[in-house]
Amino acid sequence: MTDHGQNKVIDEGRQGEAILLEQSNDVQGKKLYVESYGCQMNFSDSEVVASIMSNDGYTTTRNIDEADVVLINTCSIRENAETRVRNRLTEFKHRKEQNPDLVVGILGCMAERLKKSLLEEEKLVDLVAGPDAYRDLPNLVEEVGTGQKAVNVLLSRDETYADISPVRLDQGGISAFVTIMRGCDNMCSFCVVPFTRGRERSRDPHTIVEECTDLFAKGYREVTLLGQNVDSYRWNLTSKGEIKDTAQPTTNFAQLMEMVALVSPDLRVRFSTSHPKDMTDEVLEIMAKYENICPYIHLPVQSGHTDVLYRMNRGYSREWYLDRIDAIKRIIPDCAISTDIITGFCGETEQEHQDTLSLMDIVQYDFAYMFKYSERPKTLAERRFEDDVPEEVKGRRLNEVIDKQLAHSLASHKRQIGKTVKVLVEGKSKRSDVRMCGRDGRNSMVVFPAGAFDKGQYVMVRIEECTSATLLGEVVEVLEPAQTLQS
Ligand code: 5AD
Ligand code: SF4
Repeated sequence: MTDHGQNKVIDEGRQGEAILLEQSNDVQGKKLYVESYGCQMNFSDSEVVASIMSNDGYTTTRNIDEADVVLINTCSIRENAETRVRNRLTEFKHRKEQNPDLVVGILGCMAERLKKSLLEEEKLVDLVAGPDAYRDLPNLVEEVGTGQKAVNVLLSRDETYADISPVRLDQGGISAFVTIMRGCDNMCSFCVVPFTRGRERSRDPHTIVEECTDLFAKGYREVTLLGQNVDSYRWNLTSKGEIKDTAQPTTNFAQLMEMVALVSPDLRVRFSTSHPKDMTDEVLEIMAKYENICPYIHLPVQSGHTDVLYRMNRGYSREWYLDRIDAIKRIIPDCAISTDIITGFCGETEQEHQDTLSLMDIVQYDFAYMFKYSERPKTLAERRFEDDVPEEVKGRRLNEVIDKQLAHSLASHKRQIGKTVKVLVEGKSKRSDVRMCGRDGRNSMVVFPAGAFDKGQYVMVRIEECTSATLLGEVVEVLEPAQTLQS
């Protein structure tokens, strides 16, 4: 995840970590402060929220002291994500004691999951809005103003916020998230998302292309198409692949990605998250066809053993997953691959854990997000299985997985030494003013000396050194716009 321009990033990461969305704004009037935790989808949703609230006269602020409304967009994926948010809400409660007019609201997955308990039993917030209720936020804030506790956690079958143009909270940024679908129908047994975000629905492709075109015109050079399972994106198609309205065109994920790639050869396209059971060769072929679709796939495996995958209700076996990896390597030979791994899922034996390690050796992931299993209320796993792997075993297995991944990440970066890669310049490097940084197509962070180029430009960098986290090199060429044939 990139450093979002002016935003102050508390922590970088994936589901369960915090990102503070702030934007300085000098306009007088009602002020909104939004803080986001968790996945990229939450980050993107906060921009939809800022847009809805701006239509009601709110401007976003980076200074919580001047806020009239404080909204916290939350994550439920693991218990520690919820704990962090609860601690933050307690801090906001103290703030409210000093300023009783302050409205504090909770958005996102915890809002949906905990509904009224945060409002009524724990009295931590004034307002609760679930992921499909953001259009109602101005009304909810007004209800609070009349002394009521406001709550809307209704999940929708068709809300995609397609017509809302998100307020980008990183003015001057170059990389934006674009939500293409919401919800998830997969019911992985460990996962709370289908309960908190509801049924899967896809967004009208024309509004997606319009949003990407507009972003490009505003200077953005990278879009990440977001969905819980992008491979099952479908417009005007049923889940069985039948056409809903024969008078209208249909669009699948491969076709959508091509439409977005055609916005401009200088607009990079990324996407997240793919699902191994649904990822088609057609998607891979479109990726191979367009230089501006980045050769990087995040393909969560979760476990390397078929029996665990079955208990996880993932819908594929170890062999199926490895076949998808072979397809990636065949169709896009230089593609970077990352994954998600859970250690210590219900009933995981030592042998099953060893099979996760052996799968990692086969795939040689470039990067991975690794977690200890955390039982979530209401999920299939909570109802069906015992959370029986002791905490210390989960931790030890996690460390083994992390150690292996660090070695693989380092080996992957070492293979890049001597190559010349195309980098989208993001800005000054965090550690040094005389260095700049950006990502290559494979999503590696590349650091190089500052020069006669600025963020938003593409440069060719020859890689000379590396760590497991970063590539270091020299700029050998600054590319003119649309000079995209090099990779
Ligand atoms: N415990 C641990 N990790 C989880 N994830 C999802 N639910 C849980 C859970 N209950 C991980 C999965 C998923 C990623 C977003 O978070 O690996 O792919
Ligand atoms: Fe959760 Fe599985 Fe859906 Fe991902 S695909 S959001 S892990 S249920």
